[in-house]
Formats: sequence, structure tokens, C-alpha cells
Amino acid sequence: MAVRGVHIKIENLNHRYSAKGPVTFDRVNVEAGPGEALVVIGRSGCGKSTLLHILAGLLNPTSGTVHLDGTRVKGPSPRWVMMFQAPHLFPWMKVSQNVGIGLRFARWPEKKIRERVAEALSLVELEEHANDNVQDLSGGQQQRVALARSLVMEPELLLLDEPFSALDAFTRASLQKDVRSIAKRLGFNLMMVTHDIDEAVLMADRALVMAGAPGKIVHDLKIDLKDPREREDPEVQATRSRLMQIFHEAANSPSGGAERVVGHESVLETNPAVNL
Ligand SMILES: Nc1ncnc2c1ncn2[C@@H]1O[C@H](COP(=O)(O)OP(=O)(O)OP(=O)(O)O)[C@@H](O)[C@H]1O
Ligand SMILES: [Mg+2]
Repeated sequence: MAVRGVHIKIENLNHRYSAKGPVTFDRVNVEAGPGEALVVIGRSGCGKSTLLHILAGLLNPTSGTVHLDGTRVKGPSPRWVMMFQAPHLFPWMKVSQNVGIGLRFARWPEKKIRERVAEALSLVELEEHANDNVQDLSGGQQQRVALARSLVMEPELLLLDEPFSALDAFTRASLQKDVRSIAKRLGFNLMMVTHDIDEAVLMADRALVMAGAPGKIVHDLKIDLKDPREREDPEVQATRSRLMQIFHEAANSPSGGAERVVGHESVLETNPAVNL
């Protein structure tokens, strides 16, 4: 598969769902280089999913723009695809049919579809399940099918909205590793929303912290760690503490800024798998 990344430019993005409703977020500006993996974290309701929907072209912002390699995002495209928390597969179709659905809609020839689907299934390590019914797969395997279905489109940008939150810890850990390593191998950009600080540290090149009402990006932490990242690695642990501290500062400040730290160490000690 020949995939590459894209230059993302989000400028002065502002959104409200209705003219009289509250402003969801305001003045969001983000720039990212080709192949960068961005993770967005922030309290529930601060506008993370809204931001992803706008990037996917599924929602028009009230004002501001998103450009991908200079092209303004105005609607959905196979170049930027979204993966949701639930895999939304067609239960009556086999794994390979689910994975090839986008290519079938695009009227690709059968032979090319078969080749591309086989390639995508091998990337997500599901070759042996190509002819299984999707209902017979585990939750993690179904999420891998959804990932393969996104990958066949050779996206330049993969948008993920809490894609692993319904999975058990082991399945989640293996998908976190695989998604990052596939993205790095193929070169596409990732933009992922998560509530899981560990996940952010294990998967991101940069962690964007959103806070406040209306929401803003209050911190942009570069995560410069070598791959593959292991949870127990002291550097990973140190970055995790730093991100947790930033998150709490942002969440506890009325302005969404960073002025105060609230006992993050104790949170870490009592619940190492804390979900925010
Ligand atoms: N379709 C909609 N119509 C009106 N308001 C909406 C709609 N979708 C979301 N909102 C509101 O916009 C705000 C941001 O919602 P959003 O779903 O983007 O938050 P989030 O950060 O993804 O939250 P969570 O972490 O719980 O998923 C919330 O106050 C929500 O109630
Ligand atoms: Mg959300």
C-alpha cells in the first residue's frame, strides 16, 4: 500500500451547534506535519468529538477552516477517514466483505479489491479470519476489521474517536501498539481522541490538551519517545506524570490555563490505570 501523510492546518476554528446555544470551542489552531500522530485529551463535553467530526468533513464549523495539504475540508473523503468507538460493521457480511466495502462502492475491479483487502487484513493480523462472519469475532478483532476497512482506502489521515475504550486492557494494549506502528510504517497522520493518559503517551507524537468552556487547546506536549513504547519504561512513566499534571492543571483552572496542580501523584499511586 502506498500511503503518505498530510500537512494539517486548523485555523481559528469556532463551533456552536445552534445560534442560541453555547459555543462548543473557540479559536482552535493546530498545525501538524505529514505522518504526525496527535492525541487529543480533555474533560467530557469540551468538544473533542466535535473537532474530529469537523476534521472528517462530517460537520461544518461555525467559522474557521481546516486545510489538508492546502485543500479545504468541506465534506467527507476517502483521504480522511474516521474510526469510531463501535466498529459499525455489517453483521451479515464476512470479514473480507466488510473490509472491501469502500472499494466496492468506489467500483474497483474484483481482483484489485481482493488484493487490497488481503494486504489490509495482513496488516491487522486477521488473514486467517477473512472468511469468518463478523459476529463470530471478539470485540478486539471486530475493531481490527474496522481498522482494515479504513486502511484499504489508503487514508492520509486516520481520525479515531476513543476507538479502544470498549476493549479489555490486553486487547487495547495490542491495538495501541499496532495502530501506531502501522501508521508509522505507512506514513499517514493520526488524530485520536482518548480519555486514557497511558494511551496518549504510548501513541502520540504530540498530546493536545483541551479544556475550558468554550473549549480551547491549552497545551501541546511533544512526546519524543522511542518506539516501541513500553508502559513500564521510566521515560514513558515520567511523560505520563507530566501529562497527568498538565491535564489536572488545565481541568482545575477556571480559565482552562495552567496555574495550579492538584495531587496528581496520589491519583497515580492509587489507580495506575486511571481513566479521565
Ligand atoms: N449534535 C449536537 N447538537 C447539540 N449539541 C451537541 C451535539 N453534539 C455535541 N453537542 C454538545 O457539544 C459539546 C461538546 O460535545 P462533544 O461530543 O464534542 O464533547 P467531547 O469532548 O467529545 O465529550 P466526551 O469526552 O464525553 O466524548 C457538549 O456540550 C455537547 O452536549
Ligand atoms: Mg466524544
